[in-house]
Amino acid sequence: MTFKRDRGDRFIVEGGAVLSGRVPISGAKNAALAMMCASLLTDEDVTLANVPDISDVDSLGQLLMELGATLERLPGDTLRLNGAGVDHVEAPAPLIAENRASFQVTGPLLARFGEATAAEPGGDSIGQRPIAVHLSGFEALGAVVTRDGKRYTAKAAAGRLRGARIFMDYASVTGTQNVMMAAVLAEGHTTIVNAATEPEVQELGRLLNRMGARVEGIGAQVVEIDGVERLHGASWHVMADRIEAGTYAIAAAMTGGNVVLDDAPVPYMDAVVAKLRAAGANVLVENECRMRVIGSARIDPVNFQALPYPGVPTDIQAPLATMLTQAHGQSVVHERVFDNRLLYIGELLKMGADIIGQGSVAYINGPSSLHGTRVRALDIRAGVAVLLAALVADGATTIEDIYHLDRGYAHLEDKLRGIGANLRRD
Ligand code: EPU
Repeated sequence: MTFKRDRGDRFIVEGGAVLSGRVPISGAKNAALAMMCASLLTDEDVTLANVPDISDVDSLGQLLMELGATLERLPGDTLRLNGAGVDHVEAPAPLIAENRASFQVTGPLLARFGEATAAEPGGDSIGQRPIAVHLSGFEALGAVVTRDGKRYTAKAAAGRLRGARIFMDYASVTGTQNVMMAAVLAEGHTTIVNAATEPEVQELGRLLNRMGARVEGIGAQVVEIDGVERLHGASWHVMADRIEAGTYAIAAAMTGGNVVLDDAPVPYMDAVVAKLRAAGANVLVENECRMRVIGSARIDPVNFQALPYPGVPTDIQAPLATMLTQAHGQSVVHERVFDNRLLYIGELLKMGADIIGQGSVAYINGPSSLHGTRVRALDIRAGVAVLLAALVADGATTIEDIYHLDRGYAHLEDKLRGIGANLRRD
């Protein structure tokens, strides 16, 4: 497996197409990344199908290989990982800086080898992203955590972690996943109180159980784990990406289109479906993995708050807000998960949007006639916000820094072209 994507690429988007057709949804980024880390918990093969073809998977794959794991890409977006050769417990800093998910190698390394070292993780600039929950979870499990500049080392005081009752200050997604992975090999029973309930956390719990772990309360705010001596290999089909699916649903609604989402995680999409319907779109759920979204000629304003699951996901806040620039009236959007996730407003203003950002609240007045210009993808979701805006703008929009989009959206331009969008990579 190689890690190489061109950071210099840009998209040129001609606005005005009405999207129609079918779009296949890929595997969930934030589930796949955690599951790749879980492969470090065993020396047997962990085979993951439906892993999205995105650069965050490449960079985490590279990190796992530098730890001594082997990775093989098989047909059908399948990745076979093997952690038998893992021979060191220090994650290389540049790769940890590539994305936040990479810090989740620490829980499995600490659980299996009694020690892990990593730099503070990178990721998008969307506000404070502490790792206190991860570290205090490790400490509760009997690890001693030391800090040397920006490097953290956790060592199991007794060689092996011990089960404990852990209260998480915040129901952090990666924090819960990391501590769960540490606890599955700990001696005795662990209770995680205030665990994140996001579907990607649930999915990791299910994979861990398939590997021989004993995790109960999957999807609940209190998770119970009986530690086991060892885990074995497993095969798993990664769930579909609810954020990617939501993004295409919004694209369909925003352009007045008619698009079928195939392989979508419909049971996990209540929040976005509710908001699309409130805005006037016709969302027809055909079954558990397929829905049709038909945009209406007039989009109504909608208020929403971005919240932990099952609320409207913070990762869909920017795309949904972008759609609301086309609504007739004022929408109020409150980002309540991250403290600085409205930076995309500045890019939308360049395109003619009428949005006032105050702290974590956006007041969006519409409908605005957006026009093509040069804008930047500031992070994955801010990037997709300007892309959605470009789809309905007059003329051509140039989007710089689209390597952010490649981090999280598999085959983005092929999928969009497949439903009639007019864009090219330059
Ligand atoms: N927080 C704390 N203390 C902690 C950890 C987090 O207060 O110790 C707070 C943060 O300050 C933030 C909130 O908790 O305000 C949410 O952070 P969380 O830790 O849950 O986020 P994360 O685990 O870093 C994951 C996803 C994000 C997604 C969030 C929320 C991965 C790799 N990343 O991040 O995905 O936005 O959960 O759902 O799973 C994306 O895909 O674009 C993305 C940013």
